[in-house]
Amino acid sequence: MKKLEVFGVVKLKGQITISGSKNASLPILAATLLSNKKISLNNLPKVKDIETMISLLKSLGSIVEYNKKTINIKNNKQVKTFASYSLVKTMRAGILVLGPLLAKFGKAKVSLPGGCAIGTRPVDIHLEALSKLGVKYKIIQGYVHANAPKGLIGANIKFPKISVGATENLIIAACLAKGKTILSNCAIEPEIKDLVNFLKKMGCNIKWTTKRTIKIKGVNTVNELDYKVMADRIEAGTYLIAAALTEGNLKIRGINPKIINTEINILKKIGAKITQKKNEIVIQGSKKIKNINIKTAPYPGFPTDLQAQMMVLLCKANKKSYIREEIFENRFMHVAELNRMGAKISIKGNKATIQGNIKFKAAELMATDLRASVSLILAAITSKGKSIINRIYHLDRGYEDIEKKLNKVGAKIKRIN
Ligand code: UD1
Repeated sequence: MKKLEVFGVVKLKGQITISGSKNASLPILAATLLSNKKISLNNLPKVKDIETMISLLKSLGSIVEYNKKTINIKNNKQVKTFASYSLVKTMRAGILVLGPLLAKFGKAKVSLPGGCAIGTRPVDIHLEALSKLGVKYKIIQGYVHANAPKGLIGANIKFPKISVGATENLIIAACLAKGKTILSNCAIEPEIKDLVNFLKKMGCNIKWTTKRTIKIKGVNTVNELDYKVMADRIEAGTYLIAAALTEGNLKIRGINPKIINTEINILKKIGAKITQKKNEIVIQGSKKIKNINIKTAPYPGFPTDLQAQMMVLLCKANKKSYIREEIFENRFMHVAELNRMGAKISIKGNKATIQGNIKFKAAELMATDLRASVSLILAAITSKGKSIINRIYHLDRGYEDIEKKLNKVGAKIKRIN
């Protein structure tokens, strides 16, 4: 099994260009199912989750062609409505094909995504909301069997809780529903804004009416289009934290700083010096890292997808810090591994107490989920000696060329196959 050897201690210095956003690409790929015309996508990151979503589309009958960095998708021959467990089990975003399949064909059989290391991650909000658009469903042997006998019909839907995936599934489905749909209490992550931009360019009739409310008027057909996916804000945040952690100096290119304002302000409070331009952020980490208390929250709050990385940084703070995880109930899998490296982190419920002034020690480690694995790399680059990180397939789900990008700015990471 593939693993990484990581040698510390290093200071990161240089430039990193941010790849396309995984979490924006996934719903956009699912939304291509709405169309019968050619769709060209640019800037999709080369990561496993995108490959899995493309395999899922192909299994549904999409024709996918690669032309240099562009991916062309045609769905004119796409007739299948069955998304199998083998493709959906590794990637929860597989459930995002449910909305577009129902919108286009009025029926779908899609595997439930199943368990996940960071929590139970149910899809009840997706299903309840779809049923308000006229969908009838049953869950039989791990599959959602859904159909809309009269087609999807627009409705007023208030999400009981903010959910990124449910907001995306419903926005996509409502684009072809008869009449008007109003979705309120929506997630407003930048990736959702990107999905909406994509759908509008495709000819869908969508309008934000308040901060968390969206109005969609169903259309009958959609256009051909060419679209460039936004940059990955979680990847950018990860490298900013890496710079702050190693007293490094990094120029992060290809990302609009406005979408990671919360993260930038927190890093400034911790002591990092940050300057920003239109599509560029320069960070200089400071010797002294100040403690801070953080809680994760839906956008524009601090993202749960950066919680593990931030925890590593806070291990180096001058005093004790606290992190409250408000999104996923079990997202502290990295803590046991960080403690094996010398961290002093204790967990009570959803609150982590992080003692500062830690000197990490190199160790052999086990990655447990995508963001946990990157947090182990961050700890390892600040540990003297060689660390080994096992099960890096988690990492490959979401970070394009991570060891290449980090090695270019001074890290020493080797992939062992
Ligand atoms: C997306 C992101 C993930 C990120 C998360 C929160 C993608 C592909 N993934 O995941 O990286 O960590 O947003 O920002 O974009 N919930 C329910 N029932 C549902 C749906 C969600 O109870 O039907 C709960 C979840 O268990 C969780 C919370 O709502 O506690 C938020 O989950 P959600 O925003 O839906 O996350 P994802 O879309 O799965």
